[in-house]
Amino acid sequence: MKRSPRVYGEIVVPGDKSISHRAVLFASLSEGISRVRGFLDAEDTARTIVMMKSLGVKIERVSKEELRIEGRGLRGFSEPEDVIDAGNSGTTIRIGAGLLAAQPFFTVITGDSYLRRRPMARVILPLSQMGASIQGRNGDRFPPLCIRGKALKSIRYAMPVASAQVKSAILLAGLYADSPVTVVEPLPTRDHTERMLGAIGAAVSGEGTEITVNPASRLLPIDQIVPGDISSAAFFLALAAVMDGSELVLRGVGVNPRRTGVVEVLRRMGAEILFENERVESGEPVADIVVRGKDLAATNIFPEEVPALIDEIPVLCVAAAFASGRTEIRGAGELRVKESDRIGAMVANLTALGISCGEYEDGLWVEGPSSFPDRAVCRSMGDHRIAMSMLVLQKAAGTELTLDDTACIDTSFPDFRSMIASL
Ligand code: S3P
Repeated sequence: MKRSPRVYGEIVVPGDKSISHRAVLFASLSEGISRVRGFLDAEDTARTIVMMKSLGVKIERVSKEELRIEGRGLRGFSEPEDVIDAGNSGTTIRIGAGLLAAQPFFTVITGDSYLRRRPMARVILPLSQMGASIQGRNGDRFPPLCIRGKALKSIRYAMPVASAQVKSAILLAGLYADSPVTVVEPLPTRDHTERMLGAIGAAVSGEGTEITVNPASRLLPIDQIVPGDISSAAFFLALAAVMDGSELVLRGVGVNPRRTGVVEVLRRMGAEILFENERVESGEPVADIVVRGKDLAATNIFPEEVPALIDEIPVLCVAAAFASGRTEIRGAGELRVKESDRIGAMVANLTALGISCGEYEDGLWVEGPSSFPDRAVCRSMGDHRIAMSMLVLQKAAGTELTLDDTACIDTSFPDFRSMIASL
């Protein structure tokens, strides 16, 4: 395969996955009709729709990317008749557990073979402390989860891991608690839940890493415009960044500062990245992003930066293979328990390409600039972000990759292959 000398053009990435999940959940909890535009139409977010429908919520697809949701109010859900299947979606099962923990009925929620290996004690422990009854496989560690909702008590919970899913599950359960609930994060994570709950009338307060939610009796419907997903944009930011002379414009991308670590790191490596037409839409910062490629230099990514770029580390490893010097990423042990072990997956794939790299328990290093083979065989490990990262490398390096599974890309970005091919 011939290396593309550069890429240029303009693209619109699909809606933000985190905000799309939350929009469906919070609209369902509210009273009245909500409208969600720019919704991410993908496997993961479809699972949250299925979950909320099975609790009795009426969700209509006005178009591919627009939903009309008739909220049931905080206490209007009904017991699902069957097991809920969250598929590959950690956000559905973990945030969903916070909601289900407060419902006066019994639910069983499970997922695909990858999700059934992901840790759930992180939500089971705090929700159990609030009074819910939750059991899981293997000593209450893995899905399926059996949840019997109860009247919940207030807690103040210091989270051992920085996780927006865990924080969101506790805040959601806190809406139903007998008095205010506080979560303390070890590092700040994405705050879409806090922003959205505030917008629909919940009393959420706090600064930095300590957030408190008051019990609520009713919530207002939402009119949400979902911005483009910075985590999907990241593949194109990295692609253009590593190809000197490239220029891409990405329209309408969410640039919430808790999510833009990838931009800071690529800038530090030497890429030119500008935010234009900065605005706020439905309570979230949005911009058009212009990225210009340069010869990149290695950088280090430090533990405190990790939550703001956690999902972008696989593609940053690809960028590191093009940059001169050794890039080291530490404090990223959470990558081991994502859709795949992303540290192991990236080190195995980069090694298969002859790229100099190695792993730590909590991170990895990559040495560039690498020369790339004409062809190589790689494995996505059923993980959408690993698959897309390797396809970015294929495009930029001109290596012909044989990738075992690309269907997993539908989890977050069904049009990725056609979009990257069009550049
Ligand atoms: C997400 C939070 C992050 C992220 C995931 C989506 C969310 O996970 O990796 O893709 O929507 O809250 P953690 O909460 O496990 O850090």
